[in-house]
Amino acid sequence: MTGYLNSDDRKVTTHRLAEMKARGEKISMLTAYDYTTAQIVDGAGMDVILVGDSASNVIAGNVTTLPMTVDQMIYHGKSVMRGVQRALVVVDMPFGSYQADPYDAVRNAIRMMKETHGDALKLEGGSEVIDSVRRIIAAGIPVMGHLGLMPQSINKYGTYTVRAKDELEAEKLLKDAHLLEEAGCFALVLEKIPAQLATRVAQELAIPVIGIGAGGGVDGQVLVVSDMLGMTKEFSPRFLRRYADLNTVMTEAISRYVQDVKSTDFPNEKEQY
Ligand code: KIV
Repeated sequence: MTGYLNSDDRKVTTHRLAEMKARGEKISMLTAYDYTTAQIVDGAGMDVILVGDSASNVIAGNVTTLPMTVDQMIYHGKSVMRGVQRALVVVDMPFGSYQADPYDAVRNAIRMMKETHGDALKLEGGSEVIDSVRRIIAAGIPVMGHLGLMPQSINKYGTYTVRAKDELEAEKLLKDAHLLEEAGCFALVLEKIPAQLATRVAQELAIPVIGIGAGGGVDGQVLVVSDMLGMTKEFSPRFLRRYADLNTVMTEAISRYVQDVKSTDFPNEKEQY
């Protein structure tokens, strides 16, 4: 199926993302957590769909991403995969599924790939999780790295403010980015860091670097679907561009339905058997 914004209907692969970086074509990436949304996102021509553990916040209503389990990520991953034909689908490994030990990590990664049929997995962290990253890649599973603001470590930071503003943290991030590339990651997400630093990482690395709140000098952009569609209202960081106001559209439609039920306008004669 060809998206109306994308005339190229070939399946997106990690190899094709590398080609896109090489020819300077920006990569589009968006989250999805369910079949219906995934169908729409894929049909609109998205390059990469992320089954993010942000499902914990926007689907389950948790305050952090920490409660998400492997079983829950598999459920979301499977649902998304049923709706996608073209985009590369990356599934987040949840907190606790890869930090304890590399063998545990590879077992969880294999299970997630087998049960979701996803194309790749994403893990947060650099040197701290590099052994897990290496083992998972050695098992033949493509890995996307994630540095900068890492929501699974929110209790360590204590805040969601911009990361790597000081020299020491910026240096560690640069080192970790190279480490992840050397380990064989096919791409890297940089979340909420200064644009200058993100641009430098994208220039130094051969693999695609996708940013969220990391400026325009990277190789692609990712947003959370519920945020960019304006379904969530309370989350308003500077980097977020809202492309719709679905919160208002949905609220209006749903209150009209409530009124129609109360007034017995719905269902009418044509809407029954
Ligand atoms: O879980 C998620 O949605 C993410 C993106 C913010 C990159 O990791």
